[in-house]
Amino acid sequence: MNQDHHNHNQEQRSEDTNRPLSPWLVGAFMLSLCWGAFYLAFNSGGFNQEVYESNAVNWAGGGVAAAAPVDPKVVGKRLYTQNCVVCHQPSGMGVSGQFPPLAGSEFVLAQGNMGDNHLVMLVLNGLQGHFMVKGQAYNNAMAPWKQLTDEQIANILTYIRSDWGNNAPAITPTFVSQIRKETASVSDSYTQEQLMAMPAVKTTDMPAPAPVKK
Ligand code: HEC
Repeated sequence: MNQDHHNHNQEQRSEDTNRPLSPWLVGAFMLSLCWGAFYLAFNSGGFNQEVYESNAVNWAGGGVAAAAPVDPKVVGKRLYTQNCVVCHQPSGMGVSGQFPPLAGSEFVLAQGNMGDNHLVMLVLNGLQGHFMVKGQAYNNAMAPWKQLTDEQIANILTYIRSDWGNNAPAITPTFVSQIRKETASVSDSYTQEQLMAMPAVKTTDMPAPAPVKK
């Protein structure tokens, strides 16, 4: 009797393991895999460290606070420190005779006959040769920064236009993207003459969206 019971149990067990998986179970598993993949694709921020916003995590409360919008100036300052500070310095004053200042620079602030487009162009494509900044002459070269994304360049420029007493409007990624397209065929770094030969455009001159016809 005891033996019988045992055998019966074993039969049932082997039946259990041989039974094909329920299609529902397989379906649910595939769905959760897909969901996982999409979730990562949409929420990982491309695994970009800049996407991480330390303010968004509320450690003290233990909960996650509503994601604060990332301030372009904060991100821009970090990118400036990573890419530009060795030459242009934390003070934005550059190094006399070698690296021109960004603080009070007519190129950064798009003053006189300088446009916002000139600033984006020279950062994207680089600079070479004789250059006058704030009445001081430079004759050096800066390599292109086109390896940075539109958003990174926009953030850096927005930052350098807001620190050290500078006060000029933000540069948008859309504006950078537009200039990048317009200058896609440029292979050589600009000289000051080449830059100045092009008409100045301000971000505020960007064509407004076409009006809706009535
Ligand atoms: C390796 C040194 C170096 C680095 C790094 C560098 N620059 Fe420059 N930058 C220069 C030099 C040199 C010039 C002037 C070029 C010339 O004399 O023809 C210049 C010119 C400029 C100018 C125009 C002149 C002025 O002073 O306003 C701007 C704007 C500028 N750089 C922004 C940047 C930004 C933004 C970054 C970081 C993404 C950066 N630079 C990184 C060396 C550098």
